[in-house]
Amino acid sequence: MDKLIVANWKMNGNSAKVAEDLALYALNPATNKPNVVLALPVLYLPIARQILDKAPAKLGLASQDVSKFASYGAYTGEVSSNMLQEFGVGYSIIGHSERRMFLHESTHTLVKKIDAAIMSGIIPIFCIGEEKAVRNSGKYIEVLTEQLELLHQIEVPVKELVVSYEPFWSIGTGVLPSNDEILEIMNLIHTFVQNYLPRAKVTVLYGGSVTGTNAKEILSMPEVGGVLVGGTSLNVTDFVAICSYI
Ligand code: PGA
Repeated sequence: MDKLIVANWKMNGNSAKVAEDLALYALNPATNKPNVVLALPVLYLPIARQILDKAPAKLGLASQDVSKFASYGAYTGEVSSNMLQEFGVGYSIIGHSERRMFLHESTHTLVKKIDAAIMSGIIPIFCIGEEKAVRNSGKYIEVLTEQLELLHQIEVPVKELVVSYEPFWSIGTGVLPSNDEILEIMNLIHTFVQNYLPRAKVTVLYGGSVTGTNAKEILSMPEVGGVLVGGTSLNVTDFVAICSYI
């Protein structure tokens, strides 16, 4: 199965960078693949759509978030999954640790977002992860299982889902878990989804300090279905290198 690479630009970039980088990615066989997905700031997704359609290019698009309110309505400032879908957005990152931490997203909110995305035909990229103190306390399996249990509350049928394991302590720090530590959590997630969503196609990603240097080893692990790349995805050379491994 093809591995999935998700570039999470977070709140970075500008329209010129979107135009330049996507023009390069559309022409490069290493990046011009449907399993290379760009999670751009929402404002740039329509620009990206135009560039990719014009090329034409196979890369996918993701939003970094989605409204918990489905379709349309009086929800000032929100962007619905229907609106994202109109621009060919295939995936939405949901529950990234930065949103859990800085925007205090609750379990209820995350479940509603997953439901809304699925209802619009968008594949959720559901993020889970533990803080350093939790890892050190040895309670990380309980904490991650609790986060996974949120999937029990999804109200719509799940055909396809991405789960991304992103330890908080690895995001943007250059500190990577060992291969064994990654493997332990990949297995936890695989077991959970096999029991709970046996008919769904589920891809399990690793995210946190992935670079052009360490991506090859991480991606070579059969249990790892791909990577979610933050900071390094802003660097074209490094991002192309990561994509060349799939
Ligand atoms: P990073 O971010 O690659 O910059 O560590 C990863 C993430 O936010 O998922």
